[in-house]
Amino acid sequence: MGNLTRDNILNMLKTSNDYVSGQEICETLGLSRTAVWKHINTLKSEGYEISSVNNRGYRLDNAPDILNENTIKENMKTKWLGKDIIYLVETDSTNTQAKRIGENGGKHGTIVVTDKQTAGKGRRGRGWISPPGNTYFSILLYPDIKVDRASMITLVAAMAVAGAVEEYSRQEAFIKWPNDVVVNGKKICGILTESSTDLEYIQYVVVGIGINCNQKDFDKDIADKATSVALEMGCDIVRGNLLARVFELFEKYYDLFMETEDLSKLKEEYNAHLINIGREVKIIDKDNEYVKKALGIDESGALIVEDENGSRDYIISGEVSVRGLYGYV
Ligand code: BTN
Repeated sequence: MGNLTRDNILNMLKTSNDYVSGQEICETLGLSRTAVWKHINTLKSEGYEISSVNNRGYRLDNAPDILNENTIKENMKTKWLGKDIIYLVETDSTNTQAKRIGENGGKHGTIVVTDKQTAGKGRRGRGWISPPGNTYFSILLYPDIKVDRASMITLVAAMAVAGAVEEYSRQEAFIKWPNDVVVNGKKICGILTESSTDLEYIQYVVVGIGINCNQKDFDKDIADKATSVALEMGCDIVRGNLLARVFELFEKYYDLFMETEDLSKLKEEYNAHLINIGREVKIIDKDNEYVKKALGIDESGALIVEDENGSRDYIISGEVSVRGLYGYV
């Protein structure tokens, strides 16, 4: 019995608010009653709550949080992004996998997603602890742009995650420049963009995103700085639905970015989510630390900061580290 049939049964149950008769399922899908019954039992063993009543049929009471290409795609409306979604139960790092696909000419917009990474990568050579229950994914892109524009895609991704988390959780989500997503003052998502380039042009870009979804406990050293969507909402979430929205927004913002090959059409919306705006930030480069007020980003994604005399500086991501003065933000 193939999964496709099971998906078809599931779709019939999902699209009906009431019971669906066994007879209707048999006739629509050309199955015997026993086959339907077996599929229903498999779905139940996967965690779907299905009630069955004599003479009425089957009703889906609750769909569990199952992450795979189907549960992402079923609610996702995109034009080009995620036509290929590769779901891996476990992998070393989705960035490593997506880069491998990029080396072999995989499709623009391919997504690699997993439930668990054994060698998750963070920024600045750090690791990214990746237990099951969250989402870890990478998007493979072939933007026809100059090398110095690639880092802007990270800000595009932060906007997509902040927008989707905000809609899904009904909590305000902010961006800590350049690309951490923050809810209630704590980090909920990290983004690592890697690219393969020749002298001037980009071969491919991999945008890797880790969103803390259903994680409840964090290591002692990050517990006061990290949170998850479930912790902020007070209940577990269905990850496929959240991801579908992240991908829709990513496609929308990425297309706007590509129209001008910079952030001029996005900076206003980015700045509206920027947690640092109007606040003092500590800028740390290798020799110095200084405090200035953050005014927002410009169209290149640089953070505009101002000192008390009104003189401005443009901070380029990757060159320095920017911290809030109080706690993590
Ligand atoms: C950060 O340090 O804030 C960036 C963390 C990026 C983690 C994501 S999880 C999916 C993708 N695969 C990786 O190995 N890293 C990124």
